[in-house]
Amino acid sequence: MSDTSALSLGDERLPALELAFALVREAWEGFDSARPGQPPPSAESLDLLAQSLPQTGVGALHALKEAERLLDESLAQSRPRFFGYVGSSGLEVGVLAEALSASHDVNLASLAAAATMVEQQTIGWVGEFVGFGRVGGVVTSGGMVSNLTALAVARERALPGSRRMGLDGRGTLYVSAEAHSSIDRSAELLGIGSESVRAIPVDADRRMDVAALDAQIGADLVEGRVPIAVVATAGTTLTGAVDPLAQIAAVCRQRGVWFHVDGAYGLPAAATESAGHLFAGIELADSATIDAHKWLYVPKACGILLVRDPDALRRTFAHDASYMVDAAENPVDRTLEYSRPFRSLKLWTAFRAHGAEGFRSALESNLAVARRLADRVRAHADLELVVDPQLSIVPFRHVPSGGSIDAHNAELARRMQEDGDVYVTSAVIDGMTVLRPCITNFRTTDEDIEALIETVLRTGRALERGD
Ligand SMILES: Cc1ncc(COP(=O)(O)O)c(C=O)c1O
Repeated sequence: MSDTSALSLGDERLPALELAFALVREAWEGFDSARPGQPPPSAESLDLLAQSLPQTGVGALHALKEAERLLDESLAQSRPRFFGYVGSSGLEVGVLAEALSASHDVNLASLAAAATMVEQQTIGWVGEFVGFGRVGGVVTSGGMVSNLTALAVARERALPGSRRMGLDGRGTLYVSAEAHSSIDRSAELLGIGSESVRAIPVDADRRMDVAALDAQIGADLVEGRVPIAVVATAGTTLTGAVDPLAQIAAVCRQRGVWFHVDGAYGLPAAATESAGHLFAGIELADSATIDAHKWLYVPKACGILLVRDPDALRRTFAHDASYMVDAAENPVDRTLEYSRPFRSLKLWTAFRAHGAEGFRSALESNLAVARRLADRVRAHADLELVVDPQLSIVPFRHVPSGGSIDAHNAELARRMQEDGDVYVTSAVIDGMTVLRPCITNFRTTDEDIEALIETVLRTGRALERGD
């Protein structure tokens, strides 16, 4: 091959390929042996990171080795003892498909032959998997953008022409008091305004109070406001609570309001036998967000927005562009983004490789591990379970013999993150600072849960002693 560009790999191509895949294998083997969560950057890396723009290259092999070291010193969510936020796991076949996809650099903005069909097929499979129905939608960069996209569609439906003429301040949105902040942020970006987002109180199970929702919509209608959408959360980020979808759907149907489900974290569990019943009513939603890069395990980024009437996307986003006239309609007419990578390939490949059964079994295993963690916490005198898990988030705290329990648990989370044996983030629930492990990694087992408990007890006692 005559490859003369200064940017081609030339003779380094084969060794670089071999090196890259050897490094991936090494990383996977390291994850399996449950290495610590967050080693601090080495002096060598800090030195490299202080350097200015290199004018001449060091070559691909050298640069890849540097990149590998920096990755090794970064907080990898792929590790089975990463319990922070809502993590994922860098599913192995997904990582490989991602490399393949990048090699072809397909752009999903315009018609891209098979890739365009793969995207739609993958969306259909996800809809089927979670019981939404095999409909249409769009692949996004994640939950934030999926929610924003759905609410743009709902806004145009409730207030036709608002995409061109702007809003008049009448629109309102409804969420539970424990919804993700991406809804407030969407309201701000869409000109609805976060002050028009009604935070509906939650019940004892931390699920949206449906009577309060109906009353709030009624009161807003009396005042001449225009309800744009109700957003139910199917797996809140704080505790994993699933709002009562069927009851909310009934209110939306009766009031003629768009029903969106934010299932960015929790919706995959709709496919399981043990938790599926919590999601009854998902088949009644107008749209739903689900992040494949969370609990469908593939590497970031891969968000899915399911939309029952996909033409509503076109009515919201289509524009005439004199530089895109070769097709009657381009995929970009149904999305917010222009250039879009081939994000769905990794999920498509994973469904083909493991089948829905493989995913169901990994999800059930995560749910079972979370339930066992809750049981272990309940049974220990020095630990307190703060919320019974509905899905795979298990908020609990270590109870010190004296002093402020909130300050103790905040410091405990910080200390454990620094030590790096396990990675847990803290959260505030009803004013209480808690440890909030979330289990969304197919690699996480009971052994990792035992390590978590042992680390919490050991570190908690050291803090009490003032060590
Ligand atoms: C319920 C919920 N919605 C939306 C998001 C935002 O998703 P992303 O980070 O993919 O934009 C999250 C993130 O954790 C979430 O838990």
